[in-house]
Amino acid sequence: MKLIAGNWKMFKGPRETREFCEAFRVPEGVDAVLCPPYVSLAAAVESGHTVFAQNVHWAEDGAFTGEVSAPMLRELGVAGAIVGHSERRQYFGETDETVARRIVAALEHGLRVIACVGESLEERQAGQMELVLRLQVEAIGDAAGAHEGLVVAYEPIWAIGTGETATPDQAREAHALIKGLLDVPVLYGGSVKTDNAAELLSQEGVDGALVGGASLDVESFTAICRAAANLSSS
Ligand code: PGA
Repeated sequence: MKLIAGNWKMFKGPRETREFCEAFRVPEGVDAVLCPPYVSLAAAVESGHTVFAQNVHWAEDGAFTGEVSAPMLRELGVAGAIVGHSERRQYFGETDETVARRIVAALEHGLRVIACVGESLEERQAGQMELVLRLQVEAIGDAAGAHEGLVVAYEPIWAIGTGETATPDQAREAHALIKGLLDVPVLYGGSVKTDNAAELLSQEGVDGALVGGASLDVESFTAICRAAANLSSS
């Protein structure tokens, strides 16, 4: 079954979250996950949908202003967390080391994890895609191994929020590289929309999608989930 995760980023407070969740019906044959901001997690969990946070700290508690721990998320009924999204790495100083610590703690506490990797445009143009992915994936693999709760998301940074997607060839190549380093399911992320989801999801080694912008609208997110369900059943 393919995993389709909607990363809402800093959109939708509790009211909008409840509206979305009431309207959203998960098509049969897909593992659909909603990732709202922290303040909307409770509303999303109450709806009965599967809910992941957008980050998680490595400590159980402590003097870490602004952070939230894995046991706190578990207490709320949250099933997992995204870790190491490129926006966290780019704007909030997340490193391979902090990403690894967050992943280990989350898995130890029974959360599922979507660990994000991906190269920038400059890195790709400089021929460093393979090196960048190798370093990022090895940091994750060294810390967590091929844990059953772990999924990697390949998100080329140049494709996030830009309307550009990796071509099917580029996606296949990157996913094969990642799977060769760490044997876990790999999601594709970066401008997945209703009109390109089926093609991207049908590529070998693409086990699902991490969807940003198109996950904010219940109709387009449902259509992407349906495309994944159709492929799983065929
Ligand atoms: P996008 O975001 O689908 O809006 O490109 C994907 C992501 O950042 O996870």
